[in-house]
Amino acid sequence: LPAGASGPTLGPMDADPQALLHAAYRDPSLAVLEGFHALKHALRFGAVVEAAFTPDRDRPLRLARDLAPDLTEPLAGLLRTVPDTLWKRLAPVPPETGVLGVARRPACDPAGLLALRTAPLVLLDRPRHQGNIGAVIRTAAAAGAAGVLVTGPHDPWHPAALRGSAGLHFALPVARIDELCPDAAPLVVLDPEGEPLRPDLIPDDAVLAFGSERRGIGPELLARAHRRVTIPMRGGVSSLNLAASVAVVLYAWRLAKS
Ligand SMILES: C[S@@+](CC[C@H](N)C(=O)[O-])C[C@H]1O[C@@H](n2cnc3c(N)ncnc32)[C@H](O)[C@@H]1O
Repeated sequence: LPAGASGPTLGPMDADPQALLHAAYRDPSLAVLEGFHALKHALRFGAVVEAAFTPDRDRPLRLARDLAPDLTEPLAGLLRTVPDTLWKRLAPVPPETGVLGVARRPACDPAGLLALRTAPLVLLDRPRHQGNIGAVIRTAAAAGAAGVLVTGPHDPWHPAALRGSAGLHFALPVARIDELCPDAAPLVVLDPEGEPLRPDLIPDDAVLAFGSERRGIGPELLARAHRRVTIPMRGGVSSLNLAASVAVVLYAWRLAKS
C-alpha cells in the first residue's frame, strides 16, 4: 500500500475526536499513534501529526519532560483534552500513557528505495504478527537499515505494528508491496539451510529477506536468492523469532562497520 500524503484532510482542530479517530483507523493515508512513545518518535522524526487527544494533559506532558524534553513544547501545542467518558471510546484499548495521536503516513516509493539504497533493506515475506512487524521496524531504524518492505495481506502501518515499533515507522521508509521487483539484487535470504552468517556475507546494498513465522521463506524468493544465510543455533532449537533473527543479521552488519 503506497503510503501517500494525499489523503483527505482531517478538518479543523475542533473536529469531533471520536469521528476523527474512527476515520483515522480506516484511512490508509493516516496512522493512529496509540500511546506516548509512538507519538514521541513520530514527532521526533518529522511526522505531520494532525491531532493528539488526552484525558489528562499532565500525564503525557510529565512523560515528555522526563523522557523527551525536546518535545514538551510541540506536544503541549498539539494536545486536546477530552472528557474521560469520551477518551474511553476513542481506541479499542485506550493507551496507559494517556495519549492518542493521528499522523499522516509519509510517502514511500519502494522502487526508488530499491534503486538508491546504501544500507541493507529488510524484506519480510508474508509475516503474520503485527507485533513482530513493529519489532522489526524498531530494530531496522536503530541499526540504520534503508527501509522495511512487507509482502502479504498485513498492513505494516497497522496501529499494533506502530505500537511494536514505538512509532519508529517515521524514522525510515516502510511499505507493503505485492512482490519484490525481479531485478532486486543482491538478494540474501535468511534460511535454516544457508551458509553460516558472517558479516562479509551482508553487503551494504543487500536486500535481506526473512520468512513468515509459521511457513518460513516462500519458494519464489528461495529460488531467486543470490545467497542463503543461516544464523547458527544450538542443537534442538528449531528457529529464532522473526524479529530476533532480523536483529542478529542487521547488527552483524552494523557492528562490522564500526
Ligand atoms: C520463526 S522463523 C520461521 C520458522 C519456519 N518454521 C521455518 O521452517 O523456516 C521466521 C524467519 O526467521 C528467520 N530465521 C529464524 N531463525 C533463523 C536462523 N537460525 N537462521 C536464519 N534465519 C532464521 C528466517 O528468515 C525464517 O523464515
